[in-house]
Amino acid sequence: MTALRIGALSLARAAGALAALVVCLGLALPVAAQELRRPAPEAATPLGSTPAAPVRAEDWMVVAAHPLAAETGADILRQGGSAIDAMVAVQLVLGLVEPQSSGLGGGAFLLYWDAAENKLTSLDGRETAPSAATPELFLDEDGEPLGFFDAVIGGRSVGVPGTPRLLEEAHRRWGRLAWAELFQPAIFLAQEGFSPSPRLLALAGEAADSLSRQETAKTYFVDTLSAVVAAGDKLKNPAYAATLRTLAEEGADAFYEGAIAESIVAAIRRFDDNPGLMRLQDLAGYEVKEREPVCIAYRVYEVCGMGPPSSGGVAVGQILGLLSPFDLAALGHESAEAWRLIGDASRLAFADRGRYLADTDFVPAPIKGLLDPDYLAARAELLEGGTRLEQVTAGEPQWDHALHFAPGEALELPSTSHFVIIDGAGNVVSMTTTIENGFGSRLMVRGFLLNNELTDFSFRTHRDGVPVANRVEPGKRPRSSMAPTIVFQDGEPVLALGSPGGSRIIPYVAKTLIAILDWGMDVQEAVALPHLVNRTGVYDVEAGTRAEDFIAALGLLGYEVNVRDLNSGLHALAIGPDGLSGGADPRREGIAIGR
Ligand code: GLY
Repeated sequence: MTALRIGALSLARAAGALAALVVCLGLALPVAAQELRRPAPEAATPLGSTPAAPVRAEDWMVVAAHPLAAETGADILRQGGSAIDAMVAVQLVLGLVEPQSSGLGGGAFLLYWDAAENKLTSLDGRETAPSAATPELFLDEDGEPLGFFDAVIGGRSVGVPGTPRLLEEAHRRWGRLAWAELFQPAIFLAQEGFSPSPRLLALAGEAADSLSRQETAKTYFVDTLSAVVAAGDKLKNPAYAATLRTLAEEGADAFYEGAIAESIVAAIRRFDDNPGLMRLQDLAGYEVKEREPVCIAYRVYEVCGMGPPSSGGVAVGQILGLLSPFDLAALGHESAEAWRLIGDASRLAFADRGRYLADTDFVPAPIKGLLDPDYLAARAELLEGGTRLEQVTAGEPQWDHALHFAPGEALELPSTSHFVIIDGAGNVVSMTTTIENGFGSRLMVRGFLLNNELTDFSFRTHRDGVPVANRVEPGKRPRSSMAPTIVFQDGEPVLALGSPGGSRIIPYVAKTLIAILDWGMDVQEAVALPHLVNRTGVYDVEAGTRAEDFIAALGLLGYEVNVRDLNSGLHALAIGPDGLSGGADPRREGIAIGR
């Protein structure tokens, strides 16, 4: 593994390596072609060194995308707070120090293991389409899909945020410390200031033009940020501190009704040439939903994740289920055959995802059929030939609906953040949290950014008259790829992980699970392992890493290869007989802290 880690490290140190080197060796599929054309919104930034070994601990652990967020979570646990208390405090600090990725103006999925109750719960705090939204939200006057960033920037793309309600609901169920106490670290940092990270500086610089389309965002992310950096000062966000004080005192209701809600609606509806449709009643009516976790048996483990409206749990589960008949442990991670199997299993899962998965409160989905062992075994036979699959189409899982959907075409770009926490009582949090694209809609209100999550819907509503499951509908939640995961062995949690990365979240998480469960890597090796990712045919190979060694072999198998930065943010913790171990993705700025 040493060589592989060195490869990842040299990528991390390739400061300024912001553009992808694209090697196209054939014809791209439509969605893949769209991906290749897109700019890189969440690029590599200069990073710290990769820890050689996982962080080890005995009692508790926090792994999060920014040191201040991880330290805050650790402080809460030291004070006797629960994993959920730490989760609330971590999220509030991330909204300040990693504002481009998640925050009050976004949504999240929480997977929570309650050790005393022996119970896994998943909460859906996904953003929701306003009641006035129609399937044509992202079509122009000729019925053609808008350009991605034409849709993103402004009010049109903003879904009703779910994160504040999710924090409150989780704390109401499982919190130990007082709600208001959990706000104090973020209020302090917002008021007194913090040093903006290299990643925030680089990404704000790249997004300066789009952020400048709204005066509030420009003032904070362009003018104040540059002035602060030039003076060597700390960055303060008094507006965020004020918002946090209000929520600390009055609860999440103060976000969904009253002055904060009015500011959100005003910013969305009044945005120059791209206003949105959100109204006060959309905010007032927002609800967090408890969902059935999605679990699949893999080897001696049970791998559990998030069900719809996320496609994450089902797609990761399908990839693992498709790979079950194959001895990946024997093949090892240096074998092109292993990557052929993983890549084509992923393509099969993505084909099903594209056709069937969306918000199941609006469209039926054959979740049971998609994860049925017989269905997956039959689909896995397609992988047996030893050669690349020429054509990949969605399968026909058992389903008691005659209804069929056309494949959707949502372009999910990587922003988002993932963190994992375990407290001294063994309660586990695995949470993926997002405002979608880096800096979301670029609309800033009262110290936080509003999401652009509605662009996770398919812009096209139909294909050849057949409806797309993931089309926009009023009150619907856009399909996500977020895949917070907890793995169990003999009924006990042994691993928690997840990642940002748009739709690449699914292969990032699946690959990391394979690295740990099949290849025996520790969590740090596994999250640092160079990426080879296939979703719709093109094989993405992580630039500047040992993954490039596979280019020739993948080319011989007939894959189109695309060498590029692959900016996951995998954060994982393992729970073993010898204690806890945590791994933070060297591609980002996160750390693991434990005691
Ligand atoms: N916006 C990223 C996701 O939900 O998958």
